[in-house]
Amino acid sequence: MFPVAGLGTRFLPATKVVPKELLPVVDKPLIQYAVEEALAAGVDTLVFVSNRNKHGIADHFDKAVEIERSLDEKGKHDVLARIRGIIPEGVSTVVVTQEEALGLGHAVLCARPVVGDEPFAVMLPDDMVMDPGRGALRQLVDLHAATGASVIGVEPVPREKTRQYGVVAVEDNPQGHQQVTAIVEKPEPEDAPSNLGVVGRYLLSGRIFELLEDTRAGVGGEIQLTDAIAALMEESEVLACQFEGRRYDCGSPMGFLEATIDYALARGELREDLLEFMASRATGSAG
Ligand code: G1P
Repeated sequence: MFPVAGLGTRFLPATKVVPKELLPVVDKPLIQYAVEEALAAGVDTLVFVSNRNKHGIADHFDKAVEIERSLDEKGKHDVLARIRGIIPEGVSTVVVTQEEALGLGHAVLCARPVVGDEPFAVMLPDDMVMDPGRGALRQLVDLHAATGASVIGVEPVPREKTRQYGVVAVEDNPQGHQQVTAIVEKPEPEDAPSNLGVVGRYLLSGRIFELLEDTRAGVGGEIQLTDAIAALMEESEVLACQFEGRRYDCGSPMGFLEATIDYALARGELREDLLEFMASRATGSAG
């Protein structure tokens, strides 16, 4: 499930009409990268938890009959294949409305009627992870398949930034996996149990829904997924996965720019010209 109900206030005015998740990184909307990572991890149902004003996200994953017909008639088969490939056959998308912005935990709970009791993934599209060959979510799925445990994605974050993240403490379990022993939402640096921050990838047991039902508002007055994970950890194993692959915080303009540059550099047809352009800027040439 993809929580996409946020207002994107840090990107105004770009996000006044266009949802932040549809802003492009090079030539694909942010959300499409997360969806591709999910598909590569074997996901076959995409649940978007959105708000009633953000319609474009579901439309992006809908079949665009007129565009496809026109591309076909004009013989533009490469673009046609790219449009058709956005959602492969057999994958369904479901949109659930979060009526009030009550927090990430609440957004996850909104997906309960679609997800049921199965283990499921939560992906925050703001956190982009460049695919190092095995996508970040696939790495969580593999760890879950090997252990049966719930798994959350983590990475070291600068101490002074712990208040932007959920932060975990971990201990090696007998199998050599990192077991989460504490999780705190947005701690001050002096209260943080470590420097391992939670990034937006979770593989959770369906039990989390029942725990979310009992979770009261926490930090920021919001129902926090972190607090329900703390409760889950009391009754079953939760593992931390320090996945491979560089993460970009596309919730901030700087992270968004870094992602844009790195994803453009990863594109063969753009790389050389972009490097040349950046080198000219780095030497102060206005070129
Ligand atoms: C959310 C989670 C937080 C996590 C972060 C990762 O916070 O509540 O635990 O570390 O995503 O991006 P948000 O960034 O929505 O405030």
